[in-house]
Amino acid sequence: MEKTFYLTTAIDYVNALPHVGTAYEKIGADALARFKRLCGVETFFLMGVDEHSANVERQARANGVPPQAYCDEMCAKFESVWRTLDISYDRFIRTSEPAHAATVREIFQRIARKGDIYKGKYRGWYCVSCEAFLKDSDLKDGLCPSHGKKPEWIEEDNCFFALSRYADPLKRHIEEHPEFIRPGARRNEILSFLSEGLEDISVSRAGAAWGIRCPSEESQSIYVWFDALINYVTGAGFHEDREGFARRWPADLHIVGKDITRFHCLIWPAMLMAADIPLPVSVWGHGFVHLGGEKMSKTRGTAIDPSVLAGEYGADSLRYFLLREVPFDRDGEFTLQKFINRYNADLANDLGNLCQRTLVIVAKYLGGAIPPPPADAGEAEGGLRHALLSVREPLCRDMEEMHFHSALERIWAAVACCNRYIDESAPWKLRKEANGEKRLAAVMYTLCESLRILALFIQPFMPMTSTGIRQQLGLTADVKFGSLRETEEFGILEAGLKIGRITPLFPKKEQ
Ligand code: MSP
Repeated sequence: MEKTFYLTTAIDYVNALPHVGTAYEKIGADALARFKRLCGVETFFLMGVDEHSANVERQARANGVPPQAYCDEMCAKFESVWRTLDISYDRFIRTSEPAHAATVREIFQRIARKGDIYKGKYRGWYCVSCEAFLKDSDLKDGLCPSHGKKPEWIEEDNCFFALSRYADPLKRHIEEHPEFIRPGARRNEILSFLSEGLEDISVSRAGAAWGIRCPSEESQSIYVWFDALINYVTGAGFHEDREGFARRWPADLHIVGKDITRFHCLIWPAMLMAADIPLPVSVWGHGFVHLGGEKMSKTRGTAIDPSVLAGEYGADSLRYFLLREVPFDRDGEFTLQKFINRYNADLANDLGNLCQRTLVIVAKYLGGAIPPPPADAGEAEGGLRHALLSVREPLCRDMEEMHFHSALERIWAAVACCNRYIDESAPWKLRKEANGEKRLAAVMYTLCESLRILALFIQPFMPMTSTGIRQQLGLTADVKFGSLRETEEFGILEAGLKIGRITPLFPKKEQ
């Protein structure tokens, strides 16, 4: 049985709609999932929503609706935003699903049977926005450092998970598996945090009616993070699809923000160890999209709606901008000016014009049909061919290392080579020259074939544009599973193929 590449993102709280920052994570994960499929790797991509949060419950009450009805409504809106952004998840999990509650309770009981859950009293701070228990040393001027708000003081009888017992096994695992926490800077942060030891954590909440009932204390609900982390196991089919679960688990990659890597790199693997479930291969902690120098956030009121940008500029433009501008291991700033600049320069001018110029010449001078490939290509043709064929290998390495920005840079370097080639060969003049017809055919075949290859390279990042280019070239819209192989050869495009209707891919926008 072949292992499926199993990839997940964080599941978002549904108390506010997605913003450009939360979308960034999903777009990065989607680019990777699409790339894997393009390489012919069986892939399962999980996303979803985190519903049992106190914030969600408060928001529902503020809106005067029961939490479940509120979540139903918000979940539909989330899915609609992700569809607008062309996110190709295979399963969208909701933590209010019965299968999830059953999985959470089963895992809780397994851990309890192991002797790693016990009753105790929690006395300390709780930040509802983080849904996290905080120590005095975590606070900055008495406030939660992530949300700038004063946490609540809580004293209650809870169930505790014996996290401290796992400090040594976790340390060993992280040291023996360098790929477990990526990028390296996050790994160092976690190791240094671990060096101070771990404290047991409370995993149930008294007085929270909205949540999964706690098996050893039915009046309490299970701590929302304990519940949420288990989504990765539920989503793989733990409860209802044992065969699927065996193919998918362990997860190959959890993609999450740097603010929640501790939950994923300490609490989550300790829970799995306690439940005797194998650990995920890797956790990637990405950086933040900033707005005005600060993390874009719904709590801070600095959220930009990605659907509005997608509506105005196209989902692919936003996908391209975020992955090109904000390296996946660092923070980056969103500004409308930068976005429009890249739209006009990289998309409208570089890629859009290349397609337009090429196809218009094919339509005007070659009867709208792909010419035959040149029998003996010249030096310039050889150069362009080489430029395109040498993108694939380093591109694959970039994708393995989650260097999406450099993958795009590489593809755009090939786009620049095409533009230089069209300028230097000036096909619009060739017809009038002696023997020009043959040369015109050679130049235009080389350009159309380059566009075919470029459409495959950009597919993981800009699926609609990839389809658009293919259709305009006269190819089928769909990219087949494993199509990256078709970028290993130059000369696949068939002569005589009628090109499709030419439409501008990225109409220019005002500054
Ligand atoms: N519900 C938890 C995750 C549970 S996973 C088992 C949560 N939800 S969230 O809605 O607050 O955040 C969802 C994801 O979006 C997290 O990975 C978070 O880091 C990420 N981001 C939130 N704001 C972001 C930016 N401004 N930029 C990039 N990522 C951002 O945490």
